[in-house]
Amino acid sequence: MKSILVTGGCGFIGSNFIRLQRQLYPDQTVHNVDKLTYAGNPENLADLEGDDRYQFHQLDICDRVAILDLLTSTKPAAILNFAAESHVDRSIIDSGPFVQTNIVGTQVLLDAAREVGISRFVQVSTDEVYGSLGAEGYFTEETPLAPNSPYSASKAAADLLVRSYVHTFDFPAVITRCSNNYGPYQFPEKLIPLFISNAMEDKPLPVYGTGENVRDWIHVLDHCRGIDAALRQGEIGEVYNFGGHHELTNLEMTHILIELLEKSRELITFVKDRPGHDLRYAIDCTKAEQQLSWSPEISFEQGIRDTIAWYQSHTDWVNRIKTGEYLKYIEKQYAGRMKK
Ligand code: NAD
Ligand code: TYD
Repeated sequence: MKSILVTGGCGFIGSNFIRLQRQLYPDQTVHNVDKLTYAGNPENLADLEGDDRYQFHQLDICDRVAILDLLTSTKPAAILNFAAESHVDRSIIDSGPFVQTNIVGTQVLLDAAREVGISRFVQVSTDEVYGSLGAEGYFTEETPLAPNSPYSASKAAADLLVRSYVHTFDFPAVITRCSNNYGPYQFPEKLIPLFISNAMEDKPLPVYGTGENVRDWIHVLDHCRGIDAALRQGEIGEVYNFGGHHELTNLEMTHILIELLEKSRELITFVKDRPGHDLRYAIDCTKAEQQLSWSPEISFEQGIRDTIAWYQSHTDWVNRIKTGEYLKYIEKQYAGRMKK
């Protein structure tokens, strides 16, 4: 492919994906469309400044005219839609931006992509569209969609729109659904970077409820390799699940972080649970393993050590985020919860 267009490339996964693309395909041009919301940080790709095969476009994916203009002038072979409002707790405070970006934004991209005749569209979705598991079982691609949070409902709606475009217009899309990512450049509102940066400052680690909720953790670069495989080898209309084969309760994860950071368990603070908190996510990724020859390669033990080391050597990056809007959000989010 001569060029691809990535949306949301200044976020956590998008920035890791763009860096990987530049390494794997040096002759391919990457266009990055990002609105730069609170979660979009151009610093995440500062190392690509001066790279003439990387072009940044500050745009909202909901802006029909601008998106169509850009696709017409750049003619990418593929679009990968990472842009989203991505944090469950924020969707509980206000679902409006989630409906707008995750649903309307996807629809705008789909229509513009149809109009210019794109050859591939990858919708980057999440395992959260399947809802919650009990103690047993795994999500497969056949698991019915049953989203429980405004975030996952908006992602499921986008998946269904993509599905309908494949069915109605022979639109060349694939959908990927991945479990919880960790790694460098993750915004410190999510569990792992929040707990690492709080622990580094000896601040409380707010564990929701009893900490028994289970997540299946995958290193962001393994997810990015999966998306690349879905882009290049995936079959139109298919869904591919990706997971890390590494389930942990939130309390187990908290203990691991505390131990690796050599801090005290006294930092753990049990707080009021997230409303509608999904109990367990766990992915069966047999289909991706068999059909895309993909499997996660980074062991959790190595990946989490590297991630902690990254945050320890990027305190400036974290401190630049931990101002203004971020502090207001954290105060609003945790003030009520701390009272439990
Ligand atoms: P993120 O919040 O770190 O980044 C989102 C990016 O999208 C930001 O750069 C933001 O500026 C941009 N953006 C938001 N609204 C936009 C708009 N209207 N127009 C253009 N750009 C906009 O999110 P992330 O964790 O990198 O997630 C990326 C994608 O992967 C999302 O679609 C998410 O649903 C999906 N996903 C995330 C995980 C995870 O564990 N983080 C797991 C599975 C799937
Ligand atoms: P998060 O990183 O927000 O991802 P998601 O909700 O998409 O899975 O949260 C991961 C888990 O950690 C989830 O079960 C909620 C829990 N959690 C806490 O216990 N405390 C926190 O401060 C945060 C942000 C999350």
